[in-house]
Amino acid sequence: MSAFKSSREITTASIVFVFLLAFGLILDGHVFAEVGNDNCMACHQDQSQLKAAHRDCLSCHVGSEEHARAPTRVKPTEVGTQQCMDCHGSDRHFAQFAFSDHAQAGLECTACHGIHEPAFENRDVGLFRTDPSSAQCVSCHQDVRAQFHMTSHHPVIEGGATCVGCHNPHSSASLSLQSRTEQCTDCHQRVRGPYVHEHPAVVEDCSTCHNPHGSPNRSLLVMDEPMLCLTCHSFANNRHGLTGSNALTEAALFQPVPGSAFRQCTSCHAQVHGSAQDQFLRY
Ligand code: HEC
Ligand code: HEC
Ligand code: HEC
Ligand code: HEC
Ligand code: HEC
Ligand code: HEC
Ligand code: HEC
Ligand code: HEC
Ligand code: HEC
Ligand code: HEC
Repeated sequence: MSAFKSSREITTASIVFVFLLAFGLILDGHVFAEVGNDNCMACHQDQSQLKAAHRDCLSCHVGSEEHARAPTRVKPTEVGTQQCMDCHGSDRHFAQFAFSDHAQAGLECTACHGIHEPAFENRDVGLFRTDPSSAQCVSCHQDVRAQFHMTSHHPVIEGGATCVGCHNPHSSASLSLQSRTEQCTDCHQRVRGPYVHEHPAVVEDCSTCHNPHGSPNRSLLVMDEPMLCLTCHSFANNRHGLTGSNALTEAALFQPVPGSAFRQCTSCHAQVHGSAQDQFLRY
């Protein structure tokens, strides 16, 4: 037998039911209405390490509403570079990220940036403790790390320079040679031209002669003198050798510059980066 005696009573009951349902909706609004940060925080209390600008959960965990409604059934969505770019993309520093070596190698922003906690806390980064960002770089670039332990090196371990002083992790590392040289002379003002007598090799690219990271040779040289210079200059073709074929006067012909071979070329050609007075880059 039915609990309701007539169709009229059934109608009344349904109206009351619908009313209660609607009232319930208002009371329990957060379940059916829009899910906000408060909902997330109700279950995920400890977000104390989040930066103030990163407190809007759904700006990164886009589309996690379903998860908030049924956390055990629905996983929240993955956070990818796209979410970061939604806000940071308009900053010109990151506009080139898609073309960077890092993005091409499949790295996301979160490979280097921890959002809720530092991304690299317990990595073995040896002596690179002075600068956390350089420490992070060498944790992946182990081969480069070794170069900074060579006898001549840029003082990154010592805290006098950093990887990001020369590299922008957010854009392409393959800078043009021109801008690379400019980058070096930004810090090394003394070497900067223009000179009356330029050394073309220097104008072209500092790293022809210097390893920017480290080297077993002094002054970060890729190779020791005189071999370094002899990769481009030949004795056969100048007055240091025995033929003196480049001599300008007859008397000078066959008179080699004494003792020049197998010494440090820069003991005479001291202005190897360029000279204001001497064509032969001596002073
Ligand atoms: C009713 C409680 C509850 C609410 C509300 C809730 N979560 Fe969760 N969340 C959980 C639980 C429980 C887990 C663990 C689930 C698991 O391990 O399968 C979890 C896991 C997660 C994870 C980690 C998933 C993983 O793969 O490890 C993220 C991220 C997350 N929640 C984000 C959010 C965001 C963002 C919101 C708000 C939109 C939210 N949660 C709302 C309970 C909740
Ligand atoms: C700026 C982007 C961003 C914002 C904003 C953000 N998250 Fe996350 N969240 C991430 C990323 C990325 C991960 C994956 C782990 C990581 O890289 O830290 C993550 C992981 C999580 C996890 C699982 C790992 C853990 O730490 O337990 C939870 C839970 C979580 N987020 C909750 C939240 C809540 C709640 C909020 C809002 C208070 C929030 N997130 C805001 C990016 C964000
Ligand atoms: C809702 C917008 C928004 C989203 C999404 C967002 N950010 Fe941010 N983020 C900001 C704002 C605003 C700042 C503070 C201003 C600034 O430094 O540019 C900031 C600051 C930062 C900083 C500097 C923090 C510091 O200590 O100075 C980093 C790093 C960062 N965000 C990385 C990320 C990454 C990685 C993601 C993606 C997982 C992300 N952000 C997603 C808005 C956002
Ligand atoms: C290979 C590691 C790496 C990746 C990948 C990376 N970053 Fe960074 N990011 C760094 C380092 C290191 C710094 C500190 C730079 C400095 O001190 O000059 C930094 C600084 C920042 C800053 C704060 C300083 C600033 O220039 O405003 C923001 C914001 C930021 N990154 C966002 C992002 C976003 C967004 C992405 C992804 C599109 C991303 N990063 C990818 C390593 C990385
Ligand atoms: C999570 C691992 C990781 C971190 C952290 C990281 N890198 Fe990379 N980096 C890579 C990968 C992978 C590549 C692409 C493969 C390669 O050439 O080694 C790359 C490529 C590069 C390149 C271009 C290499 C080339 O052959 O031209 C440079 C330069 C570079 N990274 C510098 C940095 C600097 C500076 C930092 C710190 C701010 C850093 N990386 C942090 C993984 C990382
Ligand atoms: C003084 C500037 C300078 C500093 C400091 C510096 N680099 Fe470099 N790095 C360069 C230049 C210039 C090149 C390109 C060399 C070439 O192409 O001959 C380069 C090349 C690279 C490459 C690609 C080629 C290779 O040797 O594998 C990686 C990876 C790299 N650097 C990572 C790092 C890391 C990690 C740090 C910090 C520990 C760092 N660099 C510090 C200037 C610098
Ligand atoms: C961010 C600043 C900075 C940039 C950029 C920079 N250097 Fe340096 N460099 C230094 C510092 C600091 C030292 C160590 C102090 C000194 O010896 O003068 C140094 C030292 C050197 C030395 C002498 C090393 C020795 O053992 O005597 C050479 C050579 C050198 N740098 C070449 C370069 C080249 C080539 C570039 C470009 C790829 C470059 N530097 C870019 C800061 C910089
Ligand atoms: C043709 C090879 C060559 C090129 C190219 C070159 N250098 Fe050098 N550099 C040398 C030699 C050799 C020394 C050692 C000089 C000495 O011991 O007297 C040196 C020494 C240095 C030193 C340390 C001593 C000093 O004079 O302060 C710095 C810094 C330096 N070079 C920076 C640069 C920069 C910056 C560039 C690019 C603009 C560059 N070099 C290009 C050969 C070169
Ligand atoms: C990458 C090739 C290259 C390297 C390495 C190189 N040079 Fe040069 N050098 C040149 C070129 C090109 C010229 C211009 C030649 C010309 O004008 O006839 C030049 C010119 C010179 C001159 C002036 C010659 C003249 O006729 O006015 C001297 C001196 C000199 N180099 C010395 C050196 C020394 C010392 C070294 C080693 C530290 C060295 N060079 C390494 C390419 C190089
Ligand atoms: C003992 C001093 C001395 C040493 C060491 C020396 N030079 Fe010279 N070099 C000179 C003098 C002096 C001239 C100029 C000759 C003239 O006035 O005609 C010269 C001229 C040059 C020239 C330009 C003229 C030509 O004949 O092409 C080049 C290039 C050169 N030297 C390269 C080198 C190289 C490379 C080394 C190392 C293997 C070196 N020098 C070592 C003294 C020296």
